[in-house]
Amino acid sequence: MKFYILTLFPEMVEQGLATSIIGRAMDRGILSLEAVNIRDYTLDKHKKVDDYPYGGGAGMVMQAQPIYDAWEAICQRAGHKVRTVYLTPQGTTFCQPMAKEFAKEEDLILLCGHYEGVDERVLEEIVTDYVSVGDYVLTGGELPAMILVDAISRMVPGVLTNQDSGETESFEGNLLEYPQYSRPEVWHDRAVPPILLSGNHAKVDEWRRQQSLIRTKERRPDLLEKADLTEKDKKYLNFE
Ligand code: ADE
Repeated sequence: MKFYILTLFPEMVEQGLATSIIGRAMDRGILSLEAVNIRDYTLDKHKKVDDYPYGGGAGMVMQAQPIYDAWEAICQRAGHKVRTVYLTPQGTTFCQPMAKEFAKEEDLILLCGHYEGVDERVLEEIVTDYVSVGDYVLTGGELPAMILVDAISRMVPGVLTNQDSGETESFEGNLLEYPQYSRPEVWHDRAVPPILLSGNHAKVDEWRRQQSLIRTKERRPDLLEKADLTEKDKKYLNFE
């Protein structure tokens, strides 16, 4: 999968995504990321990319021309009109099913805004999806874009080397993941739950399922309402 990030701060996203699992997947050629500097496309002789808002008000607005030309150049190179996400607090809140859905795309453009916003006309022409990372306001779209690239990438086949860990985890079936433990068996007087040392896989699976249910009930009761629960799960939760 190929990500194109339209930004005024290309080094920020390049550095932020160059390490760990995502960086390795790029080295292996499964993913690629191109941070395109919007400023490279301005026709203004002072390299300006923003101007005052019509109608007045605080702050500056990113102008349509450099964004459109940068976007068009990407689409020309990709050979088709690429799905284009604009990161904005006015968008649909990002979630795991969206990450899975975006991961089916061959190419994806992420547009990062700054200042007080982006000229509405260019958004109308190029944006296919408006996405927020939560109900708070950040100074720019770069961190949200990095969040999307990370979450989408791990859903691209081959990125996670142990594909299993992409499925048995938080939000699968709207349940949170069970707690995990590693060596030593006792740490700060806290012992690992004995069932995990029993070698009884069926019992371990049952315990983990129960832990997922309890944890979701305690921490995210809103998710539990949407969860795929078996009769056994419901019985467990009622007696718990
Ligand atoms: N840009 C600024 N704040 C944002 C948010 N919460 N989500 C996505 N993009 C943003």
